[in-house]
Amino acid sequence: MEKHSYTLDYTSYENESELNDMDAALMKSAKEAANRAYAPYSKFSVGCAILLENKQLITGNNQENAAYPSGTCAERVAMFYASSQYPGVKVIKIAVTAFSKEHPVLSPVSPCGSCRQVLSEYEKLYVSDIEILLQGQEGRIYRLKSVSMLLPLAFGAESLL
Ligand code: THU
Repeated sequence: MEKHSYTLDYTSYENESELNDMDAALMKSAKEAANRAYAPYSKFSVGCAILLENKQLITGNNQENAAYPSGTCAERVAMFYASSQYPGVKVIKIAVTAFSKEHPVLSPVSPCGSCRQVLSEYEKLYVSDIEILLQGQEGRIYRLKSVSMLLPLAFGAESLL
């Protein structure tokens, strides 16, 4: 028998003033995207900004639906749009933020399980870490070096071969 353990490494910043200009701008784009979310049911607006290797900036937000499960998270809206418009272009980093019309969101918002799976696919595809920046409506920001930090032992295409 062997025991294994997993360590989650991340950096925590007090707010965007501790980020470099490029990362602060990426988070600002994510916040602008959150303002355009269609979230009439949850009232929880999520915004996402993705930086590609070709310097393209892609944003997305959650798109809800009266048939609740038909809605899609911000991260998947942005990631699938990026892949549909720029297939084969490496994803460098992704910023995620959210606010609620019902309560303050003061802790960093982290991608749901399905979004982690989708991000993981592109990280494996391009064999290149996708950095993640997470924030609530303001305040503390977490930086993770890779999607694999959020999804250890991920399922991937290699299992299908
Ligand atoms: N949501 C996202 O957009 N991203 C996540 O990673 C978590 C949840 C959305 C889905 C739904 O529209 C709302 O937030 C409440 O769950």
